Amino acid sequence: MKRLLTGLQPTGVITLGNYIGAIKQMVEYQNDYESYIFVADLHSLTVLNDENNIKENTKSLIALYLACGIDPKKNTIFIQSDNEYHTNLAWILECHTYFGELSRMHQFKEKSKKNTNFSAGLFTYPVLMAADILLYDTDLVPVGIDQKQHVEIARDIAIRFNKKYGETFTVPDCLITKSGTKIMDLVTPDKKMSKSAENKRGVIYLLDSESDIRKKIMSATTDSDMLVKYDKENKPGISNLISIYSSLKNVSIEEVEEEFKNSNYGNFKRAVADIVVEELTKIQEKYNYYINSDCIDKILDENIDKVRKIAKDKYDLVKERISIGRSKKL
Ligand code: AMP
Ligand code: TRP
Repeated sequence: MKRLLTGLQPTGVITLGNYIGAIKQMVEYQNDYESYIFVADLHSLTVLNDENNIKENTKSLIALYLACGIDPKKNTIFIQSDNEYHTNLAWILECHTYFGELSRMHQFKEKSKKNTNFSAGLFTYPVLMAADILLYDTDLVPVGIDQKQHVEIARDIAIRFNKKYGETFTVPDCLITKSGTKIMDLVTPDKKMSKSAENKRGVIYLLDSESDIRKKIMSATTDSDMLVKYDKENKPGISNLISIYSSLKNVSIEEVEEEFKNSNYGNFKRAVADIVVEELTKIQEKYNYYINSDCIDKILDENIDKVRKIAKDKYDLVKERISIGRSKKL
């Protein structure tokens, strides 16, 4: 069985866009792959601000993933900072990565422009991500398109290292989440629904109250022709609501159009709100259970020895390959 690994940053509450675009797919993958999911809390240190409560967000994120259907029996869930081999390997890989390569990363260029007083960690961020991936002989890395370049640099580092020192790392592939399910902002439907949007009325968060969800959907931007028809270009608002309904109900776009062909926008929006409320209420009930139980600690305790052992073996092999430390029989 191929091994799949992904990391999630514990920043902000997850949106309906994350759920439909990424988490639902992870729930499908868990049956086909040996899956590792970790909270990339060390990566969050690169953009620290006073509002970030990383410890609390980490627990909440794990509870939400479990509530969304990530099965702890099928996925090895852990926290990055609990396994010290990630940063150990990252240093060695940094010494095998060129300054020029890291200078070309889109995310670094963008984030360093916004805040010129950035840390060295923001610059070396992709190397820690490469260590996360390469420690576990990962075959596939499911990520959004914005992270593709980071998976590619992990591939480049692995290929280069293997060539220089002999076969050490599995070369990972990127698994880009399908683009058909991009959920747009409810107020400005030409923009992606994003955790960091300034106007929160356009964004549905998984822990929003029922009345907030209904208010946001009922006041979503639409158009003036009153037809429930998918046309992304001319009817972005209605098309977005159709996408949401079709994803959550597991029906095709055409079936949604057929179901609402005689409806006005008010009735259609009410139906979208009903299905979103139904789905998120179920998730929230499970979330409340997990966050108030000792399940999460138990899962993390059970997994840490397993992931440390895998990571230690790889780290020892790397040390042997580059000839540092004490000689050991592997
Ligand atoms: P982010 O919240 O940007 O870190 O993205 C985390 C994951 O959720 C990535 O796989 C994204 O592709 C996915 N994602 C984020 N926002 C949306 C959205 N509005 N629609 C669909 N997928 C999304
Ligand atoms: N950088 C990723 C993000 O912001 C999170 C991440 C860290 C990750 N390490 C990873 C994703 C390893 C996949 C594999 O979304």
